[in-house]
Amino acid sequence: MRHVLEAQQFDRRFIETLFARTAELEHLIDQKNGQQIRLLEGNMMFTIFYEPSTRTRVSFNAAAQHLGMQVVSTENAREFSSAAKGETLEDTIKTLCQYRPDVIVLRHNETGAAERAAAISSVPIINAGDGMGQHPTQALLDLYTIQKELGRSDNLHVVIGGDLAHGRTARSLAYLLAKFKANQITFLAPPGLEIGRDITDHLTKQGTKFNETSDIESALKLADVVYWTRVQKERFDSSKLAQTFVIDAKDMILLKKDAILMHPLPRVDEITPAVDSDPRAAYFRQAGNGMFIRMALLEWVLEKNHD
Ligand code: CP
Repeated sequence: MRHVLEAQQFDRRFIETLFARTAELEHLIDQKNGQQIRLLEGNMMFTIFYEPSTRTRVSFNAAAQHLGMQVVSTENAREFSSAAKGETLEDTIKTLCQYRPDVIVLRHNETGAAERAAAISSVPIINAGDGMGQHPTQALLDLYTIQKELGRSDNLHVVIGGDLAHGRTARSLAYLLAKFKANQITFLAPPGLEIGRDITDHLTKQGTKFNETSDIESALKLADVVYWTRVQKERFDSSKLAQTFVIDAKDMILLKKDAILMHPLPRVDEITPAVDSDPRAAYFRQAGNGMFIRMALLEWVLEKNHD
């Protein structure tokens, strides 16, 4: 079965093929004036979300419907599913499989939940974010955005900033960047929110250059890509944070002319809205790419396309 569980499961060849198919699907959708292209007609996707989401859940649902799939979706499953009565994730997944989905897209508050689900599921599981673990479909859409905006996935200096201790998107992106040549990562985090040692150990093992800093000005000047993230206030007591980073219009002066500013969204206050009109602010285009990447991933998971 083709599960999507963690960013490091994909190799460079797979990613390049996926990106080519993603571009084709975007072209097909644009040509069809928004009509369904029905390539996965007769298949059914369940999206089961135990944590809040706008982009991931809606873009998966939209991706499936563009492809002609049927969609069964639940949000806020921690409160409104039988998890609230004490049902285990394993029992929930076993039960859902009885209803004959072809794929289950799962967002969960616990790290490792997608892997646990995959271990007992009779259909593919797609990890749509597992606690502080990973968000592999986000990382794929992030790298696709970089490739589309800058024309390359190699030879990049990527500044990853914000709450790197709790942010799963930063972790997954670091894994993907390490698969390409001569990428360098600068991690920029307030004290206490630094990237995990598991990630830096992995980068060292892969020979990917990285450094850690809290000097925002120097970091922004050097970047080809600035990947900004919010403080994950739902995951820890953030009231004692001594420092947070905000990018405003005057910080954009520091960025190279051909650099891009990305953010997985939602944004809270770490990028001011005044930045949105700067052509280098790529975060809404980035969110748009998510649907096309997820269409290509659904095809792969359901074994309808590339190997
Ligand atoms: N980037 C992302 O995962 O957004 P949502 O939480 O809105 O799905």
